[in-house]
Amino acid sequence: MTKISSVLIGFSIAFIFSCSNPNVKVSSQNEINPRVDSVLALMNLEEKIGQLNQYSLGSEFTGPGNKKGKDSIRYQQLISGQVGSVLNLLGAENTRKMQELVIEKTRLGIPLLFAYDVIHGYQTMFPVPLAESSSWNLELMQKTAKAAAAEAAASGLHWTFAPMIDVTVDARWGRVMEGAGEDPYLQAEIAKARINGFQGDDLSHNKTIAATAKHFAGYGYAESGKDYNSVNVNQYILHNHILPPFKAAAEANVASFMNAFNDINSIPATANQYLLQDILREKWNYGGVVVSDWNSIGEIVNHGVSSDLKDAAKKAILAGSEIDMEGTAYVQHLAQLVKEGEIEESVIDDAVRNVLKLKFDLGLFDDPYKYSDIQREKEIVGNLQHHELAEEIAKESIVLLKNENDLLPLKNIKNIAVIGPLAKDKDAPLGNWRAQAVANSAVSLYEGLEKTLAESTNLKYAEGVKLSIGPNNFFEELIINKEDRSGFEEAKQLASNSDLVIMALGEPAYMSGEGRSRADIGLPGLQKELLKEIHKINPNIVLVLMNGRPLELSWEDENIPAIVEAWHLGQRAGTAIAETLLGENNPSAKLTMSFPHHVGQLPIYYNHKVTGRPSTAPGQVFYTHHTDVDRSPLYPFGYGLSYSNFEYGEIELSQNSIAEDESITASIKIKNTSDIDGQEVVQLYIQDLVAEETPMIKSLKAFQKVNINAGESVEVEFIINKDLLSYYKSNGELSLEKGDFKVFIGEDSSVENHKEFKLR
Ligand code: BGC
Repeated sequence: MTKISSVLIGFSIAFIFSCSNPNVKVSSQNEINPRVDSVLALMNLEEKIGQLNQYSLGSEFTGPGNKKGKDSIRYQQLISGQVGSVLNLLGAENTRKMQELVIEKTRLGIPLLFAYDVIHGYQTMFPVPLAESSSWNLELMQKTAKAAAAEAAASGLHWTFAPMIDVTVDARWGRVMEGAGEDPYLQAEIAKARINGFQGDDLSHNKTIAATAKHFAGYGYAESGKDYNSVNVNQYILHNHILPPFKAAAEANVASFMNAFNDINSIPATANQYLLQDILREKWNYGGVVVSDWNSIGEIVNHGVSSDLKDAAKKAILAGSEIDMEGTAYVQHLAQLVKEGEIEESVIDDAVRNVLKLKFDLGLFDDPYKYSDIQREKEIVGNLQHHELAEEIAKESIVLLKNENDLLPLKNIKNIAVIGPLAKDKDAPLGNWRAQAVANSAVSLYEGLEKTLAESTNLKYAEGVKLSIGPNNFFEELIINKEDRSGFEEAKQLASNSDLVIMALGEPAYMSGEGRSRADIGLPGLQKELLKEIHKINPNIVLVLMNGRPLELSWEDENIPAIVEAWHLGQRAGTAIAETLLGENNPSAKLTMSFPHHVGQLPIYYNHKVTGRPSTAPGQVFYTHHTDVDRSPLYPFGYGLSYSNFEYGEIELSQNSIAEDESITASIKIKNTSDIDGQEVVQLYIQDLVAEETPMIKSLKAFQKVNINAGESVEVEFIINKDLLSYYKSNGELSLEKGDFKVFIGEDSSVENHKEFKLR
């Protein structure tokens, strides 16, 4: 029997040393390829196809035991080299056992890859990605990804299916919680930060894991926000909105791409030659692995473009989907397809090379067990530093939406009532896609307040209303309480005896995420009714929202004096919120998705086209608008208040006309006119006034998050060069066109403060 370890003896000792030395970067293509090819040369067709087969397997597969039916087939495949990677198997002990099984029993002993959805933490839960993105703090987001990677890697994992970098413009879609919102530039910057956090600069290090750019592509544009729905987008939207974050991910050397479930312009993404070949491989020269989404190869049949799984397998592999996640299409049909001459074996070889290369990059051929370390798992998973980091980023992710008469931060209040189904909830803040979060382990808002409030303050609680009356887990449909008002009276009583009411309302954890699209994005169940009842009795209300998507909050905005968007903030949610309400933390986050006045405005996003009827003149009828609702969103992209007040000065441009190879320095003074130190996200937008294809009204091109102490001013500078002025035409080519541009600098996307300049 030839095991891979003996194959490696054929290489020079120095070469092997350089690859296994953790101080040496291993992923240069040239270094690795000879080793990859030497392994490939030993493999028969079935073993090659095995590398492209991925199953979700549990720990029951680590021993022979009594496996029946499908499990027994999978076990046989596992020990005969017909499985190349496994998802959802966790823990240092389990992964070591399964790795041992495969190394010992299979003919070549090629190590498995262990993958898992580590979306916003492994055990320590950080804010859901949409919340984190509101921090606009790239450094912190890189740190949380790094911490999540360290926990996952210590538990034997090699590969996360994150970050999700789908641009999302429709809050009805449940998966908006998994990404960084509506702007392609910000999404791309955050993608790079998260990828660098997960992968570090050495994939073979035992604290880093491979990342995945998903879902390629267009999944965030599901028609009417319904999950898995068709995506119909024009080429302009594809190239300017959807693809830029993926291009950035490819440039950041993300280890893998994942297909999307949807069809895009009538071709399933998993069988999409244009996306996977023309763009990903040819244009971007991407050299990593492409993994399907869960059975998305099988779903090519459901999409109606293949009559059976065999044809789906053929379409998917020819398009460039390399690993079949849970679809069994490849393991069942690829060998036959090769024998029949329907596909060349070289197509399979190319795919296998990418899988093997990833295994080399991770260092698995040098030590297949390096990630499965029980001692490290104990030390790293859920450690104190990670919880502290979760608190730090939670504080930066809270968006202050409204603060009438400076009700916040709270001052000298004697009797506070905390009302609402989420006030004592230790589960909702953990959010959906929570990996190995410990059930009910988040600090609740009530606990946070108890800890933070002065002893002289009386804190009382009433649940008010139940939010859900059914299962609250990933796999089952949540049932929302629509009838039981039995808690209303107690809550009203409490509100009438209090100086201030903190209402904790929103969505339970499993109301956003995969399969959780909503047609009504208002506060679910009876919560709004309760809020209105309490408001009649005591309008001195701070509304704290915990949710995984933008909500429709028109009534709330009109009637409630202070509104705090606290999302699903993770492990230390309650501490972060309480410290914010009490002024120990000054909010600095800004929305990364627009909040609509009304669900009928969706999809709504700031960087839309001008249109032929852009007029805003009063009394106009024939222009782009709804007659019954304002044209703007309730809260725009980039919006968020602070306890400080920032005053923006005039924009200064170093010159107002440039040639292609020149640049302009745009500067602006921002003064903190308050007596509270704060942070501001200074945003720069560009509008191309005339272009060959209809331009966007404005696009975010740069931002800086700056500290500005009380009473002080800072000057912020941006460089405007040709990279900020070009756009993709519908043919996918980058176009830089001479003409007039506007540059806006301000606090959110509704900024009007601008200067004009010319590209000569
Ligand atoms: C999701 C992916 C995820 C995969 C594996 C699918 O349902 O769409 O994002 O990575 O499951 O869990």
